[in-house]
Amino acid sequence: PSRDLPELPLAGRHFLITSGPTHEPIDPVRYIANRSSGKQGHAIAAAAAADGAQVTLVSGPVAIPDPQGVAVVHVETAEQMLAAVTKALPADVAIMAAAVADWRASSEGAQKIKKDGSGQPPALNLVENPDILATIGHHERLRPRLLVGFAAETQNLLENARGKLERKRADWIVANDVSPETGVMGGDANTVRIVSAEGIEDWPNLDKTEVARRLVARIADYLKSQGA
Ligand code: CTP
Ligand code: CA
Repeated sequence: PSRDLPELPLAGRHFLITSGPTHEPIDPVRYIANRSSGKQGHAIAAAAAADGAQVTLVSGPVAIPDPQGVAVVHVETAEQMLAAVTKALPADVAIMAAAVADWRASSEGAQKIKKDGSGQPPALNLVENPDILATIGHHERLRPRLLVGFAAETQNLLENARGKLERKRADWIVANDVSPETGVMGGDANTVRIVSAEGIEDWPNLDKTEVARRLVARIADYLKSQGA
C-alpha cells in the first residue's frame, strides 16, 4: 500500500545542520562556552527528518536528546565541528545554527592552571576559530545548493545580517535578536527575520519548533521552485 502514499516533500535530500554551542578548552577542567541550548538547530533537524530528508546533525555539547531519525555527530570544539561538517558533505542544504565560539585559547594547558599566590589573574591568550559557514560558502566543489546561516545580534540586526550574508556567501540568513530585552538565548521562542538577496521577511515571535517547521517548509518550496 506504500505506493499509494504521496512522497514526503524532502525525500532524497541530504540536510546538514549544525547546532548548539562549542566548548573551547582552557585547561583540563575549564572551557569557554556560550548560552546556546541547541533547541533551534535540533528542532530544524527534527522537522527536516519528519519531511523525509536524510539529516546529519553536527552538535556541540547540549543538554537535550538527539532528535529521532537523524544521524548525530557529537563534537566539542569549533575545529572538530568544521572537520565533522566537511566530512558530512556533500549536502543539498546546509543550515548552520550552531553558536560557534569565535575564539579559543591559543594553547590548551596540559595541567590545571593554579593560583600562584600573587593575587594576579593569569593572562588568557585567544586566537580566532575557523568560520565554518564561510568555509563552506566559499567552497567551490562542496558548497550546498542552499546555504543558510544564522546571525545572533544584540544591535544593528539587519545591517549585521546583510554583512554576514555577503561575507560568508550564504543564501539566507536567519537573523535573530538576542538582546536581553527581546531574544534571551536558551528560551523556547524566537523572533527571526529571513534575510536574502530577495529582501527581508519578518516572522512573528514563534516557538522554536514552529520556526523550524516554517523554515523547512520554505526550503522545500525553494527547492521545488528551482526545479532541483
Ligand atoms: N559561524 C560559523 N563559524 C564560526 C562563527 C560563526 O560557522 N566560527 C556561523 C554561525 O553558525 C552562524 C553564522 O556563522 O550561522 C553567524 O554567526 P555569528 O556568531 O552571528 O557571526 P560571526 O561571524 O561570528 O560574527 P559576530 O559573532 O562577531 O557577530
Ligand atoms: Ca560569533
